[in-house]
Amino acid sequence: MAKKPLKYYLMIPGPTPIPTRVLAAMNHEMIGHRGPLFSKVMKEVMDGLRWAYQTKNEIFIYPSSGTGGMEVAVVNTLSPGDKVIICNIGAFGARFVKICKAYGIDVNDLKFERGKPADPAILEAELKKGPVKAVLFQQNETSTGVVNDVETLAKTVRKVQPEALIVVDAVSGLLAAPLKTDEWDLDVVVSGSQKAFMVPPGIAAVSISARAWKAYEVSKCPKHYWDFGLMKEEAPKGHTYTTPPESLIFGMRESLKMLQEEGMENILARHKFNRDLLRTAAKALGLKLLAEDSCASPAVTAICPPDGIDGEEVRKLMREDFGVEVAPGQGELKGKIFRIGHLGYVDSLDLIGAFAALEVLFKRLGAKINFGAGVKAAMELL
Ligand SMILES: Cc1ncc(COP(=O)(O)O)c(C=O)c1O
Repeated sequence: MAKKPLKYYLMIPGPTPIPTRVLAAMNHEMIGHRGPLFSKVMKEVMDGLRWAYQTKNEIFIYPSSGTGGMEVAVVNTLSPGDKVIICNIGAFGARFVKICKAYGIDVNDLKFERGKPADPAILEAELKKGPVKAVLFQQNETSTGVVNDVETLAKTVRKVQPEALIVVDAVSGLLAAPLKTDEWDLDVVVSGSQKAFMVPPGIAAVSISARAWKAYEVSKCPKHYWDFGLMKEEAPKGHTYTTPPESLIFGMRESLKMLQEEGMENILARHKFNRDLLRTAAKALGLKLLAEDSCASPAVTAICPPDGIDGEEVRKLMREDFGVEVAPGQGELKGKIFRIGHLGYVDSLDLIGAFAALEVLFKRLGAKINFGAGVKAAMELL
């Protein structure tokens, strides 16, 4: 018999659960944001962000969700009429297309099959057709649970058009999958606080290379709130142009401390292991996964429900019967998949618990599954 759940388990690909240390750090009195106390906090956050991004580039933080960060990248480096290629592998690639079109940018919407990464050979062929100002793509496409090979895509751009800007939306990928901003010569990299940073939504961070600064000088997109130039004036003082989201910044400082204590290798290994654990469980139960192993995201897994069961029903019943919040399929994938997040403050036991709930749910719904096989396989891996 279904009982009302006592607890709530957030298992979506952001916002992620927040560690107690970060919650406590955010419970901080407000301080003057134009004075030395705030400058000191910002310095620590900036040092931490540069570590996370693996960059010496300037990084700005905006009081915004990830989409604002995507728009920051576009309006500061491009002009109406500029030609760009967008490697569109899912809903967030499609969002880049919408943002660019809103500013009159001439978009080559390079759409790939949902569940597949961007193919560098196809990108190369497009790049050979003529000069573009920029190539934009996601590090991790959250809507399909697919990770792009950022290093190879970046090398492809540099090989064919060395001076094209490389703009990467790493909102859900940063710290879940490897990303080396400087080594891979990435010009603008966007991230969001609510993902692997384990901080509530509300901060978008954007790194800016020397090439991106040159592009800024000639960029004609209209802008004010997002203007790099306004942030640049304040940055040397450790301040921001507008009033910063102080509570989130205190949280970010603490989360970056935690992440550095854990170490980059361990963070990436944790995400990879949790991805493998969930995929092992799903396969053992006989569920189909949208992404193949070779491009499977360490941040989120898109799972096809058993035949005859709608992904939206899975979501509803997981929430109502077990208190487990999983994410929906987006756009054309609505109902066809559901997604389980494993980025940020999620560990293997959280995933095994959620998967156990899923197995019970499928059994109740009469699906033909090998009941218990998924959890058993996950426990064996553990
Ligand atoms: C890859 C990616 N890009 C951009 C965004 C947009 O971020 P937000 O919803 O914070 O605006 C998200 C959000 O999930 C995302 O996963």
